[in-house]
Order: sequence, then C-alpha cells, then structure tokens
Amino acid sequence: MAVSMKGKHLTSILDFSVEEIYEILKVAETLKLERLRGIPHPVLPGRNLAMIFEKPSTRTRVSFEVGINQLGGSGLYLSSKDLQLGRGETVADTARVLSRYVDGIMARVFSHKTIVELAENSSVSVINGLSDFVHPCQTLADIFTMQEKFGSLKGLKMAYIGDGNNVCNSLMFICAKLGINFYSASPGGFLPKQDVIDLSQKMAKETGCRIVNGTNLNEAVSDAHVIYTDVWVSMGDDSGKEEGIKKFLPYQVRQKLIEKANKDVIVMHCLPAHRGEEITDEVLDGPHSVVWDEAENRLHVQKAIMSLLIR
Ligand code: CP
Ligand code: NVA
Repeated sequence: MAVSMKGKHLTSILDFSVEEIYEILKVAETLKLERLRGIPHPVLPGRNLAMIFEKPSTRTRVSFEVGINQLGGSGLYLSSKDLQLGRGETVADTARVLSRYVDGIMARVFSHKTIVELAENSSVSVINGLSDFVHPCQTLADIFTMQEKFGSLKGLKMAYIGDGNNVCNSLMFICAKLGINFYSASPGGFLPKQDVIDLSQKMAKETGCRIVNGTNLNEAVSDAHVIYTDVWVSMGDDSGKEEGIKKFLPYQVRQKLIEKANKDVIVMHCLPAHRGEEITDEVLDGPHSVVWDEAENRLHVQKAIMSLLIR
C-alpha cells in the first residue's frame, strides 16, 4: 500500500524518504497522462492554498495556482508586502491564522528560517516554493523530467554548473538519496556549503553514488547524462556580486561543453534563464535542451505534491 503523506510539510527534499519521492513521481505521471487525455481529476474539491511570495515568480506561481484549480480547489496569491507580515506580524502568528482558513500554505521566501517557522507553527502542510537554501519543488520536477527522458534514474551522472546555492543543494540531496552521481563545478568561492556536501556524501555512501564538488568543469561534464545550470545571480543575492560574476564567465554552458558529455545528454535549467550569461541561446534552444518540458513538469509535479500532502 502507498505511504500516506497527508499533512506532511515539504520544506526540503530531506523531509521525504526515497519511497515517498517515488510516490510523488508516480502520481505526477498519472496526473500528466490524465490531463493529456482530458480526464478531470478534482481530488481536492473546495480546498484552498495560500501562496505567500516574498520574491517574484512565473513558474512556481502559475503552476501552483493552475494546479490547485485543476485539482478542484483555489489558490490565493499573497504578496508578503500586502500581508501584515510586511508590517511586522510574526511568521508564527501568520502561520497560526492562515492554518485556520486554508488547507495548505506554499511560500517563496528569502530566508529558509521563514519556511521552518511557518512549518513549525502551521497545522496545515507547508510547501517550500524556494528559499535561499533549497528549491525542492523544482528539484522534484527535474527528477521527474529525467525519469521521463531516461526511463530510470539510478546510475545517471548529473553535472551542475554554476552557483552552489539553493537549486544546486536540492539537486545534490535528491541525487544522493536516489543514487544519481552528482558532480558540481563552480567558480572558487561559490561551491556548495561544506555541511550540505557532507550530508549528501553521507547519504550517497548508502546508495553507492558519487558526489563530487569542485571547480573542474571538464571532470563534471565528462560523459554526463545531464548538464544543469542556473542563473549567476539569484534573487536577493544581487548586492556585491559584480566582482564575483567575472569568475562565472568560464562556466557558461555552451556548445563546446555539450560535446564533452554523453552523446544523449540533456540540458536542464530551472529558468528564468539569462541568455548569453550562464547559457548560450544555441544550447538553450538546441536539440539537447529539455527546458520547456522541465518547466511544464512543474505543473504535474506540483499537483502530485498537493494531492498527496493536502488533507
Ligand atoms: N524555476 C522557478 O522557480 O521559476 P519561477 O521563479 O518563475 O517561479
Ligand atoms: N537560484 C535562483 C533560482 C530561481 C528559480 C534564485 O534563487 O533566484
């Protein structure tokens, strides 16, 4: 029998077991197929999802809002500026009050502490729609896309090129958990934090995969099945990075790099892309790119997460 995840929070990939991750992927596959065939699936009738945004969003906002509608519920877009949160009401009090009105809370925040505090004080599921630490909903959609393209996940090699922050952290966690070899190449000073690496390596020992983090681009992309990149300057990270940005220039994902990877390599990007910075037009629009499928899959995976977590 499938595991019940009702009422669980998704603050990070670390909250879920391997079995639960595969259950999300399985439900996402069913929902995607049903949508393709025009079969409605209102499994959350009348449920409401509060969607708190401290930062802008296209994919996360639209996939959650459209997703909850397709599941028979409704989403409320709540800009943190318009909430009393913006005038000093505490995160904990906001969580307590929202829990009395809605059936789930999705939040995109600057500090990961805010997600943790929301989860600790909410009686309904809290879903992390991106924090400075991790981006688990994106990662689940990424893994779903990889499974679609390759059939199975274990033993693949992912090369993450760029800033070792939120998107990289979540990918590293899930790869370690699922037995996917994960290599990251980042400019000096922008490698993932040591505690994230240590934890991932510990998990990877159990699943028998490699987690390698460094500055070596060639080692990372050599024979890779997946090349993944993200913006050089993340939201909320724009001050004082002008000097650092120069260090990213050699880490641009361009055609020459693709040629060093496995011949069937797929190129992924969480988007939005800064064309001509972390990735060239040629690669983003090229035959190896799966970024539009990846973006579409946010919808199917978000729906799977909501249908499994929200009571
Ligand atoms: N990838 C992603 O989370 O996109 P948005 O910032 O548009 O939500
Ligand atoms: N690392 C990026 C991801 C955007 C989806 C950011 O945090 O802005």
